[in-house]
Amino acid sequence: MATATSPFFSPPQIVPSVPAVRGLPFLGNMLEFRKDRLALHDLAAEVGPIARFQILHVPVYSVNDADLAHEVLVEKDASFKKSAGLSFLMPLLGEGLLTSEGEVHKKHRKLLAPAFAPKRLAAYGEVMVEETRRQLATWHRGKHVDLSHEMMEMTLAIAGRTMFDADVRGDASTVGTGLEMAMRSMLASITSPLQVPYSWPLPRHQQMRRAVKMLDAVVYRMIADGRAANRDKGDVLSMLLLARDEEGTGLTDPQVRDEVMTLLLAGHETTANALTWTWYELGRNPAALARLEEELTHVLGGRAVTAEDLPNLPWTAAVIDEALRLHPPAYQTGREATCDVTIGAHRLPERSIVVINIRGIHRRADYFPAPLAFRPERMLAEHKKARPRHHYLPFGAGSRVCIGSHFALMEAQLSLATMVAGARVRPTVTTVVPEPLVTLRPKGGLPAIVELKV
Ligand code: HEM
Repeated sequence: MATATSPFFSPPQIVPSVPAVRGLPFLGNMLEFRKDRLALHDLAAEVGPIARFQILHVPVYSVNDADLAHEVLVEKDASFKKSAGLSFLMPLLGEGLLTSEGEVHKKHRKLLAPAFAPKRLAAYGEVMVEETRRQLATWHRGKHVDLSHEMMEMTLAIAGRTMFDADVRGDASTVGTGLEMAMRSMLASITSPLQVPYSWPLPRHQQMRRAVKMLDAVVYRMIADGRAANRDKGDVLSMLLLARDEEGTGLTDPQVRDEVMTLLLAGHETTANALTWTWYELGRNPAALARLEEELTHVLGGRAVTAEDLPNLPWTAAVIDEALRLHPPAYQTGREATCDVTIGAHRLPERSIVVINIRGIHRRADYFPAPLAFRPERMLAEHKKARPRHHYLPFGAGSRVCIGSHFALMEAQLSLATMVAGARVRPTVTTVVPEPLVTLRPKGGLPAIVELKV
């Protein structure tokens, strides 16, 4: 929801020293922004490491350089908050980890951190493999599937069981539809020339309300079940329900609800898209797939994969890392300056919006030679060491770095290993158009055929 102090209502001064993408009078780059945000970022990347485009009267600074991104996200982190664009997600996420600021964010991050520690995650491995096998059981030779849909269903089931110890497969379509509606409503709000309060009864606001109602019904039910159980079941929800601060105060149901909703949104859709893009690239790169099959046969010899196997599956990890480079589900991340701040050679005034073009940075030829080629070998340890770490940021960086990155990588590796060892699936398209919703997904899904089922 835009507020009176938001940059949408009272935009900061334009910084003329930052080179600009050419735009129309009054509209600026609004039309390109609405039609193809990825192309607009690409245009900005051609203009310079930091370039300015204009959404109506609001200047946006697109950062396409790893050093400058590091400056924004890490070195000068204290001079920024999350960008106003996310405020459209507030009705859905409330004050969850993704959207909260300051002390609330710090406190909740501390509360949630132990739930994502590598040691605790190891226990989730079994569920990840089990749910992948359940998905695999619905496939048969010759079946046509939409891999995008399959991955969403599977990661939602994994999120449900590992985070909330609940079987949400029955609710998958409600939750999936609810999240999709919420994201579409948010995009409609961001790209609308008409910025109005959320209380106005516009169709996009009504769509968000319907989405929230659908999702609330599922999430509050999970909370009620968790409260009734009143013990640590090893999942994130029971940890949240039992957590107490120094004064012995716990989280209220609405606070827990916000965190649960955040983890559902941030956790399942991103990983599902990462896996879908991985399938897409494996379909186009048979040699990479063959090497993956070889690694799995060699290490597993037909048995089910476990979390302990992961250190011995470097190619599996590299395939996922490389897919995350080319198609980062979180293709950009935004910030708003809370004070005047210098980035590179430019002094940006308070309330300036800065967008880190993660996908653009990952596709720079000076960071990753032949950037559009899918080459998992560049993600193997010996090549990684030779590269500055901050050139690769699929999970962001700094104080707001993804809390679920280890969870996501473990899930993606275990699921991919299970699926590739259990079936041969071939996407039936060789090119797809990326659709930048809140996360980056293939437009229209990823149609595929199951060629072989082990
Ligand atoms: C491949 C999968 C994933 C990708 C690409 C991804 C990417 C990201 C990125 C880029 C951010 C930082 C956003 C920013 O800078 O503002 C982020 C934050 C976050 N992610 Fe993930 N994520 C993934 C999976 C997950 C999973 C599995 C979970 C939870 C189970 C999760 C929960 C979160 C949360 C709660 C935040 C907010 C952290 C904070 O602000 O303190 N993510 N994610």
